[in-house]
Amino acid sequence: MDRIRIVGGNKLNGTIAISGAKNAALPLMIAALLTDETLILDNVPRLADVAQLQRILGNHGVDITSVGKRPGDRQYQGQTLHISAANIIDTTAPYELVSRMRASFWVVAPLLARMHEARVSLPGGCAIGTRPVDLLILALEKLGAEIAIDGGYVVASAPGGLKGATIDFPKVTVSGTHVAVMAASLANGTTVITNAAQEPEILDLADCLNKMGARIYGAGTPRITVEGVSRLHGARHTVLPDRIETGTYAMAVAMTGGDVLLSGARAELLQSALDVLSQAGAEVTVNNEGIRVARNGAAINPVRVSTAPFPGFPTDLQAQLMALMVCATGSSHITETIFENRFMHVQELARFGARIQLDGETATIHGIEKLRGAPVMATDLRASVSLVIAGLAAEGETMVNRVYHLDRGFERLEQKLSACGASIERISD
Ligand code: UD1
Repeated sequence: MDRIRIVGGNKLNGTIAISGAKNAALPLMIAALLTDETLILDNVPRLADVAQLQRILGNHGVDITSVGKRPGDRQYQGQTLHISAANIIDTTAPYELVSRMRASFWVVAPLLARMHEARVSLPGGCAIGTRPVDLLILALEKLGAEIAIDGGYVVASAPGGLKGATIDFPKVTVSGTHVAVMAASLANGTTVITNAAQEPEILDLADCLNKMGARIYGAGTPRITVEGVSRLHGARHTVLPDRIETGTYAMAVAMTGGDVLLSGARAELLQSALDVLSQAGAEVTVNNEGIRVARNGAAINPVRVSTAPFPGFPTDLQAQLMALMVCATGSSHITETIFENRFMHVQELARFGARIQLDGETATIHGIEKLRGAPVMATDLRASVSLVIAGLAAEGETMVNRVYHLDRGFERLEQKLSACGASIERISD
């Protein structure tokens, strides 16, 4: 299994091109199941999760061709996928495929909406809490689906098609909102979704669906209205930039010091995280090429942050912020409100010498002057990258073992960082 070796201490200077967002690309690819015409997606990141979803869609009979520049080409711009679900040959998504990536469960919505039936294995994914699918099922039931759980599978049917309804989510859920929007697009009648997630990836999905002929209003706000249509057609859509990748590299620069332009990044997608970085002492400036992050000599100030649904501070940047706070000049407090059990990086950060105390949902980080490199183990996607950030700033060598999770969500991580002066390499055994 691959490992990543880092020799810490170098500042980061230069430009990092931000890739398309994984969390937008996945639902957009799944939305292709809603039409028998071709959906073309530009700026799709080359990630293990994208490849895995291609296999899952292939199993349903979807044809996908990939074009675009390869990694290493000069003007690298992600890949363009041509996705055609002209013939859906199978409405079952099997355990072997779905258990490896939680988001693949979402195929239940377009399959049910278009084919009126779906049999989808209950999901797997990152080990960050129980992550049930009860709210997704609630949304589909409101739209008139009959749902049973049989042998670890969700078996859903809607013989006469789905029907518009009111869906009031008791809790803000990104997955629930994606599923509700996709299913309601082909339902008969109007659906109103309240307490909807406002994440930018929801808006990106709705924009794409509207290009495909859907009638979705209010995406990006807590109240979304979907007027169902009888069919959707092909379209072309560009995946929005990855705000989590942006925030991750921004934290890395704040940690090591230096000056990096995150090209193609959009500040409005992560304003809360940029505000926290400024509070921590990083210089953040926005220009028409992207976001510039710099820290030259200034101390890292401690912060107090709670994760929250968008536009709040994203849970997917919690581990990275914690890595940064390990070197702050005082005590920081980070509260995780979205997922229970999302503190698995704490014990690994301790291997660098970090002093972190956990009390329920809150971690108190007592800043220290210097981290020391260590062998560490990645446990989930965002936790893994927090270890990379710590390794970049630590004295000496860090070996990040089991990097499988990193490849699920970070495109060309070692290349992007080493181009800015980091000493980082992948070791394939
Ligand atoms: C998505 C993101 C993930 C991010 C998360 C929160 C993708 C592919 N993943 O995950 O990176 O960390 O949003 O921003 O986009 N919940 C239930 N029942 C359900 C569904 C969710 O109780 O049926 C709970 C979850 O356990 C969690 C909370 O709701 O505590 C939020 O989950 P949700 O917003 O649905 O996260 P995901 O869409 O899975």
